[in-house]
Amino acid sequence: MQSLLIERKGNPVEFSYPIVWEDGFKAIGSHLDMLGLSAKKACIAADSRVASLYLQELSDALKDHFRQVDLFVFPEGESSKNLETVQKLYEFLIQKKYERRDLLIALGGGVTGDLTGFTAATYLRGIDFIQVPTTLLAQVDSSIGGKTGVDLDQYKNMVGAFCQPRLVYMNAASLVSLSDRQFASGMAEVIKTALLRDAEFFRWILSHRQQIEARDTESLDAMIRRCCEIKAMVVEEDPKEQGIRATLNLGHTIGHAIEKLMDFQLLHGECVSLGTVAAAYISYRRGFIPEEDYQNIRSCLRAFHLPVSFCKVPAEKILLATKTDKKMEGGQIKFILLHPLGNAVIDRTVCDEEILEAIHILNGEA
Ligand code: GLY
Repeated sequence: MQSLLIERKGNPVEFSYPIVWEDGFKAIGSHLDMLGLSAKKACIAADSRVASLYLQELSDALKDHFRQVDLFVFPEGESSKNLETVQKLYEFLIQKKYERRDLLIALGGGVTGDLTGFTAATYLRGIDFIQVPTTLLAQVDSSIGGKTGVDLDQYKNMVGAFCQPRLVYMNAASLVSLSDRQFASGMAEVIKTALLRDAEFFRWILSHRQQIEARDTESLDAMIRRCCEIKAMVVEEDPKEQGIRATLNLGHTIGHAIEKLMDFQLLHGECVSLGTVAAAYISYRRGFIPEEDYQNIRSCLRAFHLPVSFCKVPAEKILLATKTDKKMEGGQIKFILLHPLGNAVIDRTVCDEEILEAIHILNGEA
């Protein structure tokens, strides 16, 4: 077993919880015992796909540690990430008489973690929850750091709360069942993480492409661990995104715009890939990174089967959509650029012309 503590010191400590890596779900009960989270009711929330794969195994692992284990299953996909599903989960918890000392368990990918975390943050003004991420994207990014929320109409993550989980339990074996497309989507967040904080890690990803693609356990363990270390450092410093945490949004301004304009037909990581190419291009045009780095970033994303070009929506429409993103501040976009590779910076001066030029590059028009 390996673990990593994520902790925000203070008096009292603001938050402190472990990320643990285990083979299988069996050890989850003893981790919950150690954290004083067992011996009450636990509700596992999962989408229909993950439920069919892991719900039985996880509930078996929990039954000796809780008086009652309940299962809440909802349809797979971003279209479930809304207040309607949250309301259904509230109603389920009320019906099953969940109290403040009971526990919610998010079993699955980013959608499940975000909506279950948001329910936990708001049900009875807050109950404990833990994250059991089963996708690469959730293991390297969304399950860590306490961002929870849902989409409102086409506005992504527009309603939410910062609420830290009590435990992040990673079962490496769950990555085996991921489709290649879902795996690639997670790789976009991995590459993003390396680009924003650790150039050496970016080079490591390039040199371990074959092992990563073959889902070699040792390479995946090292890769996921490094992403979690970086994410933990950033979140410990700035849990509520007052400053440095915004750098984790590299590739997300244009990425989110494309995601909503495509009505969520592209996966989150696919949109982050496109947004990262655009951000790297603007960084290159500003002279913050050399052209060679821009080309390497593009090739790396493409090598992991991620899209690096896109022409389904007119550039002006994408530009307009970036303006409704919640990463705006005082009417200005907080754009994340590389300055240089391995160091992301927040820039409020990126103008419409630069964004349009970058989108035209994605369109293959410039
Ligand atoms: N996924 C970006 C963040 O957690 O801040």
